[in-house]
Amino acid sequence: MVNRLAGKVALITGAAGGIGLETTVLFLREGASVLMLDISEPALERAVAKVHELVPDLKSPQFVKTKKCDVSKESDVAAAMESLDEHGGLDIMFNNAGIMHAEDDDAISTSERIWDLTQAINVKGVWFGCKHGVLSMRRHKKAKGSIINTASMVALMGAATPQLAYTASKGAVLAFTRELAMVHARENIRFNSLCPGPLNTPLLQDWLGDDLQKRHRREVHFPMGRFGEAIEQANAVLFLASDESSFVTGQDFVVDGGMTKAYVTGEGPPTAAPKNNVS
Ligand SMILES: NC(=O)c1ccc[n+]([C@@H]2O[C@H](COP(=O)([O-])OP(=O)(O)OC[C@H]3O[C@@H](n4cnc5c(N)ncnc54)[C@H](O)[C@@H]3O)[C@@H](O)[C@H]2O)c1
Repeated sequence: MVNRLAGKVALITGAAGGIGLETTVLFLREGASVLMLDISEPALERAVAKVHELVPDLKSPQFVKTKKCDVSKESDVAAAMESLDEHGGLDIMFNNAGIMHAEDDDAISTSERIWDLTQAINVKGVWFGCKHGVLSMRRHKKAKGSIINTASMVALMGAATPQLAYTASKGAVLAFTRELAMVHARENIRFNSLCPGPLNTPLLQDWLGDDLQKRHRREVHFPMGRFGEAIEQANAVLFLASDESSFVTGQDFVVDGGMTKAYVTGEGPPTAAPKNNVS
C-alpha cells in the first residue's frame, strides 16, 4: 500500500534511532512529511543521511527536516512545533523519545537524580508533545489528528529486573494518554499508547548489559522465541497514525509478540524476524 499518509505533516521525537527512525522511513514512504527531533545532533545528521538514501525521491511539498530538541524543555518542543506553521501545522505527533538509564534500579538503589531525569524526559516530554501538538492542530483548524505516545509493556507487567523510574514513567504515559483521548475525542484528535515488548535496540541492550541479557534470555518468556524489531513497532505506529485507525483511540496498543498474554510458552526454534530498513 502507498500514500496511507499522503499530505500529512508528522513530528517524531527520538527520531535519530530505533523505533523513531524506522517510523520516519515508513511515514515518508507513505507520503507524509516528517520533522525528526532528537537530543543528539550528530545522531540526527547520520539518521537523515540514511533516510535520504532509503527514500531518495521526495518531491516538494513533501519534506524531511531535522531539529535538535530536548523534549524535557518546553521551549524546545514549542519552537519545533511552531516551525511547522509554515507547512500548515501538525497532523501526526509521535512522542517516542525516552530513556532507560543504566542506574535505574529498585526502590532502594535508584537515586532521586535518576528518578527525576527519567520522569522529565519520559513523562514531561510526552506531555509537552501532546500539549503543543494539540495547540498546533487547533491553530491550523485541523479536522482530525493522531497522537501516539510510546509507553512500554512494563507499564502492564511487573519485572524482577527492576527499572523503577522507567516503569513508573511508562505507567504515567499510559494513564494520561487514555485521559487525553477522552478529553479530545470530540475534536477528532485521537490519542493512543504504543506498548512495545523488548526489542533489539541499543536502548535495551545497553541497559541489560551482558549479565542481565543472559538472565533475560533465560527467564523471560518469549512466545515467539525472539526479541522484537523496531520495524514491527513502526508498522503499528503507521496504522495508528493513518486514517485506517479512525475509530481507535484511548488504546494501550501492545506490540510484544504475545508476551503480555503468555503463561506458558511453547518450544521450538524462534520465528523469523522481519528486516529493519535501517539496522
Ligand atoms: N527498546 C525497547 O526494548 C523498548 C521497549 C519498550 C519501550 N521502548 C520505548 O520506545 C521508545 C524508543 O526506544 P528505542 O528502543 O527506539 O530507543 P533508542 O535509544 O534507539 O531511541 C531513543 C531516542 O531518543 C533520543 N532521546 C533521548 N533523550 C531525549 C530527549 N531528552 N529529547 C529528545 N530525544 C531524546 C535518543 O537520542 C534516541 O535517539 C522509548 O520511549 C522507549 O522507552 C523501547
